[in-house]
Amino acid sequence: MRSPGSAAQYLPEDRGLDALRAAAGGCQGCPLYADATQTVFGHGDPGAPLMLVGEQPGDQEDRAGLPFVGPAGRLLARALDDAGIDPALTYQTNAVKHFKFTRKGGKRRIHQKPSRTEVVACRPWLLAEIEAVRPQVVVCLGATAAQSLLGAAFRVSAQRGEAIRFPSSVDVRVEPEPIVVATVHPSSVLRDRSDAHDEAYKLFVADLRSARNVYAH
Ligand code: URA
Ligand code: SF4
Repeated sequence: MRSPGSAAQYLPEDRGLDALRAAAGGCQGCPLYADATQTVFGHGDPGAPLMLVGEQPGDQEDRAGLPFVGPAGRLLARALDDAGIDPALTYQTNAVKHFKFTRKGGKRRIHQKPSRTEVVACRPWLLAEIEAVRPQVVVCLGATAAQSLLGAAFRVSAQRGEAIRFPSSVDVRVEPEPIVVATVHPSSVLRDRSDAHDEAYKLFVADLRSARNVYAH
Protein backbone atom coordinates (compact mmCIF):
# COMPACT_ATOMS: atom_id res chain seq x y z
CA MET A 1 0.00 0.00 0.00
CA ARG A 2 1.29 3.46 -0.80
CA SER A 3 1.55 5.57 2.30
CA PRO A 4 1.98 9.19 1.37
CA GLY A 5 4.52 11.06 3.40
CA SER A 6 6.74 8.10 4.23
CA ALA A 7 9.92 6.49 3.02
CA ALA A 8 8.13 3.12 3.21
CA GLN A 9 7.02 3.20 -0.42
CA TYR A 10 10.64 3.64 -1.57
CA LEU A 11 12.05 0.58 0.18
CA PRO A 12 13.41 -1.95 -2.34
CA GLU A 13 12.66 -5.65 -2.23
CA ASP A 14 16.35 -6.40 -1.81
CA ARG A 15 17.10 -5.29 1.74
CA GLY A 16 20.88 -5.45 1.46
CA LEU A 17 22.70 -2.23 2.38
CA ASP A 18 23.79 -1.44 -1.18
CA ALA A 19 20.27 -1.79 -2.54
CA LEU A 20 18.90 0.27 0.35
CA ARG A 21 21.47 3.01 -0.22
CA ALA A 22 20.68 3.15 -3.94
CA ALA A 23 16.93 3.32 -3.30
CA ALA A 24 17.28 5.96 -0.59
CA GLY A 25 19.02 8.14 -3.17
CA GLY A 26 15.63 8.58 -4.86
CA CYS A 27 13.49 8.97 -1.74
CA GLN A 28 10.84 11.67 -1.76
CA GLY A 29 9.04 10.38 1.32
CA CYS A 30 8.92 13.83 2.92
CA PRO A 31 9.58 17.38 1.67
CA LEU A 32 13.22 17.46 2.84
CA TYR A 33 14.64 15.93 -0.35
CA ALA A 34 13.72 19.07 -2.30
CA ASP A 35 16.30 21.55 -0.97
CA ALA A 36 19.12 19.25 0.12
CA THR A 37 22.01 18.25 -2.13
CA GLN A 38 21.60 14.51 -1.73
CA THR A 39 20.47 11.67 0.52
CA VAL A 40 23.10 10.96 3.16
CA PHE A 41 22.73 7.26 3.88
CA GLY A 42 24.57 5.38 6.61
CA HIS A 43 28.18 4.40 6.20
CA GLY A 44 30.62 1.99 7.83
CA ASP A 45 31.07 -1.67 8.68
CA PRO A 46 28.10 -3.59 7.18
CA GLY A 47 28.37 -6.10 10.06
CA ALA A 48 29.17 -3.58 12.78
CA PRO A 49 28.43 -4.61 16.38
CA LEU A 50 27.75 -0.96 17.15
CA MET A 51 25.48 1.38 15.19
CA LEU A 52 25.57 5.11 15.89
CA VAL A 53 22.49 7.14 15.00
CA GLY A 54 22.66 10.93 14.77
CA GLU A 55 19.92 13.41 13.98
CA GLN A 56 20.41 14.40 10.36
CA PRO A 57 23.32 15.31 8.08
CA GLY A 58 24.79 18.77 8.55
CA ASP A 59 26.10 21.20 5.95
CA GLN A 60 29.32 19.30 5.29
CA GLU A 61 27.65 15.89 5.31
CA ASP A 62 25.11 17.17 2.79
CA ARG A 63 27.90 18.14 0.41
CA ALA A 64 30.05 15.05 0.98
CA GLY A 65 27.19 12.54 1.00
CA LEU A 66 28.62 10.90 4.12
CA PRO A 67 27.53 11.09 7.77
CA PHE A 68 29.67 12.68 10.49
CA VAL A 69 32.40 14.25 8.37
CA GLY A 70 32.00 17.77 9.85
CA PRO A 71 32.79 19.27 13.28
CA ALA A 72 30.35 17.05 15.21
CA GLY A 73 31.86 14.03 13.48
CA ARG A 74 35.34 15.04 14.53
CA LEU A 75 34.27 15.32 18.16
CA LEU A 76 32.51 11.96 17.85
CA ALA A 77 35.66 10.35 16.43
CA ARG A 78 37.72 11.65 19.34
CA ALA A 79 35.13 10.44 21.87
CA LEU A 80 34.99 6.97 20.27
CA ASP A 81 38.74 6.77 20.56
CA ASP A 82 38.64 7.82 24.22
CA ALA A 83 35.92 5.23 24.84
CA GLY A 84 38.06 2.46 23.33
CA ILE A 85 35.76 1.95 20.35
CA ASP A 86 37.36 1.16 17.00
CA PRO A 87 35.54 3.36 14.42
CA ALA A 88 36.12 0.62 11.82
CA LEU A 89 33.73 -1.53 13.85
CA THR A 90 30.90 1.01 13.74
CA TYR A 91 28.15 1.84 11.28
CA GLN A 92 27.17 5.51 11.41
CA THR A 93 23.88 6.90 10.24
CA ASN A 94 21.13 9.41 11.03
CA ALA A 95 17.46 9.37 12.00
CA VAL A 96 16.74 11.65 9.03
CA LYS A 97 18.68 11.26 5.79
CA HIS A 98 18.33 14.74 4.27
CA PHE A 99 19.77 18.02 5.60
CA LYS A 100 17.10 20.45 6.83
CA PHE A 101 18.16 24.08 6.89
CA THR A 102 17.22 27.71 6.48
CA ARG A 103 19.32 30.30 4.69
CA LYS A 104 20.56 33.24 6.68
CA GLY A 105 21.80 36.36 4.97
CA GLY A 106 23.71 35.29 1.90
CA LYS A 107 24.61 31.68 1.46
CA ARG A 108 25.09 30.28 4.94
CA ARG A 109 22.84 27.34 5.62
CA ILE A 110 21.61 27.05 9.19
CA HIS A 111 20.64 23.64 10.58
CA GLN A 112 16.98 23.24 11.50
CA LYS A 113 15.63 20.51 13.73
CA PRO A 114 13.55 17.96 11.81
CA SER A 115 9.89 17.72 12.81
CA ARG A 116 8.39 14.60 14.37
CA THR A 117 6.56 13.99 11.08
CA GLU A 118 9.82 14.04 9.13
CA VAL A 119 11.51 11.74 11.64
CA VAL A 120 8.64 9.25 11.39
CA ALA A 121 8.62 9.52 7.58
CA CYS A 122 12.32 8.66 7.44
CA ARG A 123 12.27 5.89 10.05
CA PRO A 124 11.78 3.00 7.55
CA TRP A 125 15.34 3.60 6.31
CA LEU A 126 16.72 3.45 9.83
CA LEU A 127 14.81 0.27 10.66
CA ALA A 128 15.97 -1.31 7.38
CA GLU A 129 19.56 -0.41 8.27
CA ILE A 130 19.16 -2.07 11.67
CA GLU A 131 17.77 -5.20 9.98
CA ALA A 132 20.62 -5.26 7.45
CA VAL A 133 23.52 -4.54 9.82
CA ARG A 134 22.15 -6.50 12.81
CA PRO A 135 24.17 -4.54 15.38
CA GLN A 136 24.40 -5.67 18.99
CA VAL A 137 24.01 -2.10 20.23
CA VAL A 138 22.34 0.97 18.73
CA VAL A 139 23.60 4.22 20.22
CA CYS A 140 21.18 7.12 19.80
CA LEU A 141 23.07 10.40 19.68
CA GLY A 142 20.61 13.00 20.97
CA ALA A 143 16.86 13.28 21.41
CA THR A 144 15.89 13.05 17.74
CA ALA A 145 17.47 9.62 17.26
CA ALA A 146 16.37 8.42 20.70
CA GLN A 147 12.77 9.48 20.14
CA SER A 148 12.70 7.92 16.68
CA LEU A 149 13.32 4.50 18.22
CA LEU A 150 12.09 4.87 21.79
CA GLY A 151 9.08 7.16 21.32
CA ALA A 152 8.36 10.86 21.65
CA ALA A 153 8.11 10.66 25.45
CA PHE A 154 11.68 9.40 25.85
CA ARG A 155 14.01 11.76 27.72
CA VAL A 156 17.74 11.39 27.16
CA SER A 157 18.50 13.31 30.36
CA ALA A 158 16.59 10.76 32.44
CA GLN A 159 18.01 7.58 30.89
CA ARG A 160 21.31 8.39 29.23
CA GLY A 161 23.91 5.64 29.26
CA GLU A 162 21.43 2.95 30.30
CA ALA A 163 21.11 -0.32 28.40
CA ILE A 164 17.52 -0.27 27.16
CA ARG A 165 15.67 -3.20 25.61
CA PHE A 166 14.60 -2.65 22.03
CA PRO A 167 10.96 -1.49 22.22
CA SER A 168 8.48 -4.16 21.17
CA SER A 169 6.33 -1.47 19.52
CA VAL A 170 8.98 -0.95 16.83
CA ASP A 171 8.72 -3.49 14.05
CA VAL A 172 12.19 -4.78 13.20
CA ARG A 173 12.79 -8.30 11.98
CA VAL A 174 16.07 -9.03 13.68
CA GLU A 175 16.92 -11.67 16.27
CA PRO A 176 18.24 -10.95 18.80
CA GLU A 177 17.10 -7.35 18.88
CA PRO A 178 19.86 -4.86 19.62
CA ILE A 179 20.22 -3.11 22.95
CA VAL A 180 19.65 0.65 22.74
CA VAL A 181 21.80 3.20 24.55
CA ALA A 182 20.92 6.89 24.37
CA THR A 183 23.27 9.78 24.93
CA VAL A 184 23.53 13.43 23.97
CA HIS A 185 24.36 14.68 20.49
CA PRO A 186 28.06 15.47 19.90
CA SER A 187 27.01 18.95 18.67
CA SER A 188 25.67 19.76 22.13
CA VAL A 189 29.07 18.93 23.63
CA LEU A 190 30.75 21.00 20.91
CA ARG A 191 28.50 23.99 21.54
CA ASP A 192 29.05 23.86 25.28
CA ARG A 193 31.73 26.50 25.68
CA SER A 194 31.15 26.92 29.39
CA ASP A 195 33.27 25.57 32.22
CA ALA A 196 31.04 22.52 31.97
CA HIS A 197 32.46 21.58 28.57
CA ASP A 198 35.05 19.12 29.89
CA GLU A 199 32.47 17.49 32.12
CA ALA A 200 29.96 17.23 29.23
CA TYR A 201 32.64 15.58 27.11
CA LYS A 202 33.55 13.13 29.88
CA LEU A 203 29.90 12.14 30.37
CA PHE A 204 29.54 11.63 26.61
CA VAL A 205 32.59 9.34 26.57
CA ALA A 206 31.25 7.47 29.61
CA ASP A 207 27.96 6.79 27.79
CA LEU A 208 29.85 5.49 24.75
CA ARG A 209 31.90 3.29 27.05
CA SER A 210 28.77 1.79 28.58
CA ALA A 211 27.50 1.06 25.05
CA ARG A 212 30.82 -0.65 24.34
CA ASN A 213 30.47 -2.76 27.48
CA VAL A 214 27.25 -4.22 26.10
CA TYR A 215 29.11 -6.03 23.33
CA ALA A 216 32.75 -6.12 24.43
CA HIS A 217 33.16 -8.72 27.11
N1 URA B 1 25.12 15.65 13.04
C1 URA B 1 24.40 14.53 12.89
O1 URA B 1 23.48 14.25 13.63
N2 URA B 1 24.70 13.71 11.91
C2 URA B 1 25.70 13.94 11.06
O2 URA B 1 25.90 13.12 10.18
C3 URA B 1 26.44 15.12 11.24
C4 URA B 1 26.14 15.97 12.23
FE1 SF4 C 1 13.06 10.39 2.30
FE2 SF4 C 1 14.10 10.69 4.72
FE3 SF4 C 1 14.88 12.28 2.76
FE4 SF4 C 1 12.46 12.57 3.79
S1 SF4 C 1 14.42 12.90 4.85
S2 SF4 C 1 12.96 12.53 1.59
S3 SF4 C 1 11.90 10.42 4.22
S4 SF4 C 1 15.23 10.08 2.87
